[in-house]
Amino acid sequence: MQKIVILTGAGISAESGLATFRDAGGLWAQHRIEDVATPDAFARDPERVHAFYNARRAQADEVQPNAAHQALARLQAEHSGEVVIVTQNVDALHEAAGARDVIHMHGELARALCAACGERWPVTGDISPAEACPACAARACRPDVVWFGEIPYRMDEILNHLQGAEIFAAIGTSGEVYPAAGFAQEAAGHGAHCVEINLEASAVSRDFDEARQGRASEMVPAWVAEVLGG
Ligand code: OAD
Repeated sequence: MQKIVILTGAGISAESGLATFRDAGGLWAQHRIEDVATPDAFARDPERVHAFYNARRAQADEVQPNAAHQALARLQAEHSGEVVIVTQNVDALHEAAGARDVIHMHGELARALCAACGERWPVTGDISPAEACPACAARACRPDVVWFGEIPYRMDEILNHLQGAEIFAAIGTSGEVYPAAGFAQEAAGHGAHCVEINLEASAVSRDFDEARQGRASEMVPAWVAEVLGG
């Protein structure tokens, strides 16, 4: 049975109303990575880093999944083989659309992480560095998101999935950030057919067998219908 592995990025949530990072007016045009998304930034100014992620959590709470998230949940429910969704996104829109066992390789806004003991716990609303860890009581609370300079989560598991995939699809991601940008090469090296679905060619389009350009809300349901029908 055909195994499908999907990687998603900020572009899949754009039509739900969440800003991407590198498009004009995206998050990295408004904030410097060095100020809000590195361990050094958090050590220097934890309040500022929390404010950035608190604002993103508030926005993410207000939006709904779009037709692309829904189509991937449908693919998972209806495809006869395994469908693994790996996302770089920290929102919960895949889950809101009904997807199961989503691998959040860059973490989740809906969780906090204790920088002292590594405990993770679910959070809603604003969080602050003063929040006590439920396990060790340290006041070292940070968002459970992966910053530049940190290692993404669950990489061994993801590499295993890529190596066993017959189809690999990357959706709404610029291909600028490794290791995710190298997933197509990894999957192709193990025989997967690789499909890119993005508004424009990504930085790693050459690694894919097909590149389909357009909006995720239109292109993804069409691709899913093809896969389920073919
Ligand atoms: P980017 O902002 O780098 O790229 C988003 C991609 O989505 C771009 O190539 C857009 O052309 C495309 N796009 C925008 N709207 C779209 C739409 N409606 N349909 C289809 N495609 C669309 O976001 P990511 O690739 O997810 O990491 O960024 C990767 C990582 O860089 C993020 O997880 C984050 C960021 O820095 C960390 O914070 C560690």
